Amino acid sequence: MSLKFPSNFLWGAATASYQIEGYSLTDGGGVSIWHTFSHTPGNIINGDTGDIACDHYHKFSEDINLMKFLGLKAYRFSIAWPRIFPYGTGKVNMKGIDFYDKLVDELLSANIIPFVTLYHWDLPQSLQDRGGWANKEIVNWYADYADFIFQKLGDRVEYWITLNEPWVSSFFGNLYGTDAPGMRNIYTAFTTFHNQLRAHSKVVEIFRQEKMKGKIGVSLSNNFYIAVTSDEKDKIATQHMHEFTNYPLFLDPIFFGRYPKGLQSIIDKYLPHYYEKDLDEIRSDIDFVGINYYRGHSVKYNKDKFLNAELIKIGLKETGMGWEIYPKGLYEILKGIQKNYNPKELYVTENGAAFDDNLINNSVHDQERIEYIREHLVQVNNAIMNGINVNGYFVWSLMDNFEWAYGYSKRFGIVYVDYKTQNRIVKDSGIYYSNIINSGELSAEGGNKNE
Ligand code: FCB
Repeated sequence: MSLKFPSNFLWGAATASYQIEGYSLTDGGGVSIWHTFSHTPGNIINGDTGDIACDHYHKFSEDINLMKFLGLKAYRFSIAWPRIFPYGTGKVNMKGIDFYDKLVDELLSANIIPFVTLYHWDLPQSLQDRGGWANKEIVNWYADYADFIFQKLGDRVEYWITLNEPWVSSFFGNLYGTDAPGMRNIYTAFTTFHNQLRAHSKVVEIFRQEKMKGKIGVSLSNNFYIAVTSDEKDKIATQHMHEFTNYPLFLDPIFFGRYPKGLQSIIDKYLPHYYEKDLDEIRSDIDFVGINYYRGHSVKYNKDKFLNAELIKIGLKETGMGWEIYPKGLYEILKGIQKNYNPKELYVTENGAAFDDNLINNSVHDQERIEYIREHLVQVNNAIMNGINVNGYFVWSLMDNFEWAYGYSKRFGIVYVDYKTQNRIVKDSGIYYSNIINSGELSAEGGNKNE
């Protein structure tokens, strides 16, 4: 059986500045927290850094040709704030904006719609030195930066994402310490998250005030959580994990002007003392919700864990990250958002998998990635068929890249990058995806009708 997608469905691929561009300090760019973090020994596997990454900074035209070859309708990328404002605020580096200016122009002439993420984790280090996202002032710093980008690119860009995965950057960066800036303080983590909410809303407000054309939304991280038993304690722990790490922590404040009710008494003490006063302003009218989805987790009650929740594996097939694959969870997440908030539009702004790819005779036969993509697209299709307003899907990622703390050891691309030569080789999954885009349909059964 083959499943059809709407003819105007936006098929895309996603990347992020620090993960692919390289040469972040070239042409007057400033230092980001990820530059600092990756240059600090012990933080990244093999001591990798984003210094060169995929050299997209110089090879972007070639990469756009690749996108054309794949038939992408849309491309999601992020802007490196420190390329434009090397010190975060104040002095503008025109060469930085020139790069994105050309990128947007070339995408448009290739008929590829740019989806621009304003912040995908590479905060200017100078701002971190002033407290970063934990400083209340960041709302103004971020607003000035975003406004500048709107003025420069807003005549051509029609889709804007304010923040990528605010939960991950707040908590992995400031509580667990595994991402930049590498802090371990629960108060800093909650304040960071709260200020990202404030910053998001302020930028949406500016977008409306200036009557920018186009749409603005946010990309949120989501896992599917399943209680290991039907015991009430396991169920509550599961619900708390969902509300804390998934869309409710961001969307409840945005849509309802309050944090998730079930978490209120737990998180109240960690949020900044002024938080309640901000909630009215945080409510904002977004045009779409972007969902990033990769995995499922089983949850067991454990009184010694935060939220009494322990994450365990139940033997499902795993990706190369050791992430258990749970395609149905994508449907459940989309359904949950539609039901609770009824946003105007939904996009899957990231979905994909790392596997241990082998380059043999200039080919990569990544059947497991093909299966992963197929199984998740079946769920996207199911969502559309059930009236959920999903308008596009972005595979993570266009090409292999710097996978944060994992450096280059994990490959998520549908295009293989040979880091020694910087050659790009389209993987079998790239061809598979391209065939789906061209035909607008996929085979619901395992394997690929196009093979
Ligand atoms: C997401 C990030 C993205 C990428 C994928 C694998 O959390 O947004 O940059 O690293 O995970």
